[in-house]
Amino acid sequence: MGVETSIDAAGNWRASYPGKEAASPRLLIGSHLDTVRDAGAFDGPLGVVLGIALIECLGSEKLPFAIEVIGFSEEEGVRFGLPFIGSRALVGSLDATLLNRADEQGMTVGSAIQSFGLDPANLADAKMGDDTLGYLEFHIEQGPVLEDRALPLAAVDAIAAQTRLELLFRGSANHAGTTPMRLRRDAMAGAAEWILEVEDQGRSEEELVATVGVVETKPGAANVVPGEVRCTLDVRHKDDPIRTAAVNQLLAKAGEIARRRRLSVSHRVLLEQASVCLNPFFLELVEQAIGNAGCTPNQVTSGAGHDAMILAQRVPSAMIFLRSPGGISHSPEETVLVEDVAHAIEAGVELLHLLANTPNLQRRMKSA
Ligand code: HGY
Ligand code: MN
Ligand code: MN
Repeated sequence: MGVETSIDAAGNWRASYPGKEAASPRLLIGSHLDTVRDAGAFDGPLGVVLGIALIECLGSEKLPFAIEVIGFSEEEGVRFGLPFIGSRALVGSLDATLLNRADEQGMTVGSAIQSFGLDPANLADAKMGDDTLGYLEFHIEQGPVLEDRALPLAAVDAIAAQTRLELLFRGSANHAGTTPMRLRRDAMAGAAEWILEVEDQGRSEEELVATVGVVETKPGAANVVPGEVRCTLDVRHKDDPIRTAAVNQLLAKAGEIARRRRLSVSHRVLLEQASVCLNPFFLELVEQAIGNAGCTPNQVTSGAGHDAMILAQRVPSAMIFLRSPGGISHSPEETVLVEDVAHAIEAGVELLHLLANTPNLQRRMKSA
């Protein structure tokens, strides 16, 4: 297809398709290649494959900008507890602190990069150039909105904020057969009481979501009162004050439960990601392209996080959602409709031509 491919020092896969001129600016199109555990096949990889499909549709046509398709290495944050590792390399924020984060086996991000045959010393080369025009990400919606609207595509107006924490409840491990209930300091029972509070808090506010996805207990034996429980907390809302208030209330609740049960509880913040509004001018062009492709332009706010949250810190960014049948994602049931993928490709080609025919594009995107 006339693209040059490479793998950068953060493990991102990159494919460059040249523009009309050698010094053309560059449009990035991409998404992530990693998934959550026991995931579906489309969250991430679909956005990379659609970028490649758009280059294929261009045939030998050259645009006034180059196109670089990127497959980000680690967006979900499953292995190191911190998302967006690959895309942080593009904005230059994959720093020493993040490189020293370790996985469950104690391997750090830096040593994982080395064991993959890459050199973290070259991370600066992974940074996007100043010639970057913008970033476009196709992604499944991962929710029920487009199916409810009976529409194939949407332009994303904003991406909800998210806080990810890890809490550690500590009591005392003891014999399950000889320790009377009234003398126990059971970390699991304390964590369980708090987890129901998390659910209540999530239900207390429209569009707030609060999730405990991981619970690990020590020592983890059927005949031992758990002495230690590690939980994760994921809280999201499009308004930052509502999200932070919910997090603070849940931390206060954890403290109150711990005191009453003679436990200790501590926490560490894994991620504080403010909500991101996507570039209004780019959004307008995306809606126009969706219309030109014969679909109904509409907007959706994303409850899921995306690499676009990171890229948008540096360049005008846009996202195009594809309908998620059943509103299911982060599950093997996740899927897409072939006709929606076809619409996405048509809208993508329309968007490339709208961008190519917009005078003073770079200035208008930057000033939006
Ligand atoms: O968890 C998320 O928001 C996304 O799937 N990374
Ligand atoms: Mn995901
Ligand atoms: Mn994703």
